[in-house]
Amino acid sequence: MNSEPLFQLKQVSKTYATREGEEFHAVDGIDLEFHRGVSYALVGESGSGKTTLGRLLTGLVCSTEGEIFFEGRRLRDWVRKSRTKFCEKVQIIFQNPYLSLDPKWNIREILEEGIRGMPGRERKRKIAVILERVRLAAACLHKKPNALSGGERQRVAIARALLVEPEFLVLDEPTSQLDVSTQAGIMTLLKELKSSLKGGLLFITHDIALASQLAEVFIVMRRGKIIEQGLRQEILLSSKAPYTQQLLASIPAWPPLI
Ligand SMILES: Nc1ncnc2c1ncn2[C@@H]1O[C@H](COP(=O)(O)OP(=O)(O)OP(=O)(O)O)[C@@H](O)[C@H]1O
Ligand SMILES: [Mg+2]
Repeated sequence: MNSEPLFQLKQVSKTYATREGEEFHAVDGIDLEFHRGVSYALVGESGSGKTTLGRLLTGLVCSTEGEIFFEGRRLRDWVRKSRTKFCEKVQIIFQNPYLSLDPKWNIREILEEGIRGMPGRERKRKIAVILERVRLAAACLHKKPNALSGGERQRVAIARALLVEPEFLVLDEPTSQLDVSTQAGIMTLLKELKSSLKGGLLFITHDIALASQLAEVFIVMRRGKIIEQGLRQEILLSSKAPYTQQLLASIPAWPPLI
């Protein structure tokens, strides 16, 4: 692993106020590092804070305590001074492809959004190349999102993210809204695309078996805290934490293929 982390989290918390006026720590004092070129999985039960952590890394929400550093610089400074540049470096794919694409725009408009500054001919060429990479037909460019299947929509979302040539990609349960065969297609695509992300990726999921297809390092989260992290084999075969063992025991086909 490269010694200088791409992301560094120091005592990061995200607190929300509850209706009763109390504080709720969705993310609770996390210390964590993400190194370049590594594929990470963030696993944990529903409500453990996975999405909140993914949003913190992409600057969509700000920490209430602690500090996140990206390439050695405070993330809050990136967001304040050069948000566009940061967004080009770190992209996110959301869980729900039915909500993440603007229904008013056709697919060409959606894909062009992030690369508007580019000359028209170059934009067209890049879009043609990316469509091939995510295996979408050029005919989809004239369609609106509601004319596409869930799997196709998620491929559009992936294409849109990759068009800006990000270094790091956060994938928040990108297949959980899809049926099993569509899910398998998207996982195959992500495995192919992984090597093009120089900075690496973070795959957020509650499904450890799925995570094991893509990630080299596992981070296990519960109630806003990191319970355990380690190489895939270590976590899957010799986890020390009872909570991780519980998660592993809930996988129907045990042991998973690693
Ligand atoms: N904007 C918000 N306001 C108040 N509470 C929030 C907000 N966002 C998240 N939370 C709470 O923080 C906790 C963690 O939520 P989060 O979405 O990060 O969990 P998760 O691990 O991604 O869950 P899932 O697997 O269901 O997607 C939950 O209890 C959630 O209700
Ligand atoms: Mg979530």
